[in-house]
Amino acid sequence: MKLTIGGIDRVLEAPEGAVLLDILRQQGLHPDAPCGGKGTCGKCRVLVDGKEALACQTRVDRDMTVLLPRQQGAQILTDARAVSIQPDGTNKYVIAFDLGTTTVVAYLMDGITGQLLSKESCMNPQAQYGADVISRIQYAMDGNASTLSGCIRSALGELTRKAAEKAGISTEEITLGCIVGNTAMHHLLLEIDPQPLTVPPYMPAQSQALCIPSQGILPIHPKGTVRILPNIAGFVGADTVGCLLSTRLDTLEELTLMIDIGTNGEMVLGNKQRRIACSTAAGPAFEGAKIECGMRGAPGAIDHVTCREGKLSFHVIGEGEAVGLCGSGLLDLIAALLEKGEISESGRMESGTVFPIEGTRAYLTQKDVREVQLAKAAIRAGIELLCQAMKVRPEDIHQVLLAGAFGNYLNPGSACAIGMIPPVLQSRIIPIGNAAGEGARLAALNEEEFECSKRLASETEFLELASMPEFNDCYVDCLCFEEESE
Ligand code: FES
Repeated sequence: MKLTIGGIDRVLEAPEGAVLLDILRQQGLHPDAPCGGKGTCGKCRVLVDGKEALACQTRVDRDMTVLLPRQQGAQILTDARAVSIQPDGTNKYVIAFDLGTTTVVAYLMDGITGQLLSKESCMNPQAQYGADVISRIQYAMDGNASTLSGCIRSALGELTRKAAEKAGISTEEITLGCIVGNTAMHHLLLEIDPQPLTVPPYMPAQSQALCIPSQGILPIHPKGTVRILPNIAGFVGADTVGCLLSTRLDTLEELTLMIDIGTNGEMVLGNKQRRIACSTAAGPAFEGAKIECGMRGAPGAIDHVTCREGKLSFHVIGEGEAVGLCGSGLLDLIAALLEKGEISESGRMESGTVFPIEGTRAYLTQKDVREVQLAKAAIRAGIELLCQAMKVRPEDIHQVLLAGAFGNYLNPGSACAIGMIPPVLQSRIIPIGNAAGEGARLAALNEEEFECSKRLASETEFLELASMPEFNDCYVDCLCFEEESE
């Protein structure tokens, strides 16, 4: 059958009965498919012969003309708070990667001086097989492990080539790479069976730090080495270890909470005496999935909402027309509607089930509010139970370090207003940017830092929330929106 892809003027042959989403993936068109093709997220919508259809639910049964939505790259956070870097000088050029579920960032550095020579980033191409780690793990377990590892390895290769070109060196001059990623990204890159991550006790099949030949993983010097930071537990991976390394949590006197909010909220509470980590399933709501007008932080997304004298005003990424809400905008909007009394403490929308956002095509539904309640309750319950395990109260926490893109862009006032973070901590929140990437840079430049990452992983205790009898009660208690603030 003949498929004409409008917009990019591509005509191709597709076998009859093929699923349209699969064809788009094979063509490298990276369709948005956060639910992995289950037909539940509605984000793979395309126009087939002028009519709206879900690509994952459409079979090619005739010649078709398919029009894809305009694709926009997301804002990718590449910066972090500067930490002092002491290279050991054993490699002339090194490259570090933060391999995220949604985005991938590469940092090419001079191994002698530690200077950052170039920085490249891209969306994780595995997203076309599912936005969240669970759907990707499932896809790998369905016999597609090599597809997933192949597509991320080629993305790492592409970033390496671009970074080297920008820095004016050849890729062969790079002799060492260092990669951090969550446990699922780690397993899917290395083609390690991710099945143990899906069943109790949800432990990684491989936790130890690795130092392996680069061949087949990165297109650097043929005798190059790749360092992979260790994992702590099933959903507390090498990216969290990277954050610990760059924040030096193990050297701090004051009690510190470090949170990296993504589909999972990974958090570590502690200081130089003791550190406890946990992971809580926040779900993909803050990344736009499961939210009717949700989208990534890309042009057209409302990323901030303010409420002045009862009137809402919006900021749109790219300053153009608003087409949806990204995580930080969603949080702000719900906080503003709570303040206006449009949403009750129980989460009920007081004037109907849909709140249209004036002057835009975007809107918020009652179901969206419920999704945010589930996500924020998961994070809050994680914080409360970590405090219990540490035998401290939330108000004893000296500082809250928010790592990652969402943590960087969210408004701390809104995060506290909806009770995701205890309101008493509002003034103690510090966004720290891409701390995981910073950790990868440190471990790339200095072997001692890499050794330190092993110590950090083995000395951090892990709290398995799912097996705690008190988790459910605590989670339910956290579903309501709080009203008091500091
Ligand atoms: S609805 Fe098609 S990928 Fe989610």
